Amino acid sequence: MARQPIVMANWKMNKLPEDARTYIESVANAITAYPSVEPILAGQDVLLQSMVEAAKGTAVEIGAENVYWKEEGAYTGETSPKVVADLGVQYVIIGHSERRHYFRETDEMVNLKALAALRNGLKPIIAIDEQIQTVSNNEHMHWIVNQVIEALKGVTPEQMTDVVLAFEPTQAIGSGTAMSADMAQKDLYLIRETVSDMFNPEIAEDLRILYGGSVKPENVYEIMRQHDIDGVLVGNSALDPDNFIELVKLTH
Ligand code: G3H
Repeated sequence: MARQPIVMANWKMNKLPEDARTYIESVANAITAYPSVEPILAGQDVLLQSMVEAAKGTAVEIGAENVYWKEEGAYTGETSPKVVADLGVQYVIIGHSERRHYFRETDEMVNLKALAALRNGLKPIIAIDEQIQTVSNNEHMHWIVNQVIEALKGVTPEQMTDVVLAFEPTQAIGSGTAMSADMAQKDLYLIRETVSDMFNPEIAEDLRILYGGSVKPENVYEIMRQHDIDGVLVGNSALDPDNFIELVKLTH
């Protein structure tokens, strides 16, 4: 099965409700020329309702940036995956490197959130990071493999059709300099091999894995040419709707 490419913008803690509507209006028509690409926009919780409304009837799909692992209860300030799904949101980013660093999310929390997303009909985009820069190759590989194994604990083979993984080397995020495409390819290959060992080669072959970290129109073509890279998760560059359209066009 050919893996459909994804271009996903992660707005992080940017944009106002009004920006959300104008952004979606300005990209919706242009991207209909590139139906082979799945376009997804992720925004903060408070924007999700207006994003879903603005995206209605367009090809744009909406993602949340985080959810809690319980559906309901006394968890002040958290966001229920059940409520997010009920709004009409399709995807949720789980374990983004900023969540892992600033909010101390552990592998166990990432796993609980991924399972909760799946239980509630949200497709998790589980982020795998790489924050150690000057270590041996073995340590680097072990770090990545371990995160994949921990994140996917308890996920069934059937549920894997709804899972997307995203590899984001921390030093590339927001830096303006992406990891070289061939190095990213090596890490994504390792991730796919790990999933093959955990499940089976067919599930690994069908799994979509994204690269994130300073992707922009200037480098997306080279990144997307790599065999194991099925899409991009884009922060800064995709805050501009024209860049988002360009990224979709160049990924097509
Ligand atoms: O979720 C997106 C990533 O953190 C990448 O952000 O494109 O600004 O480097 P960036």
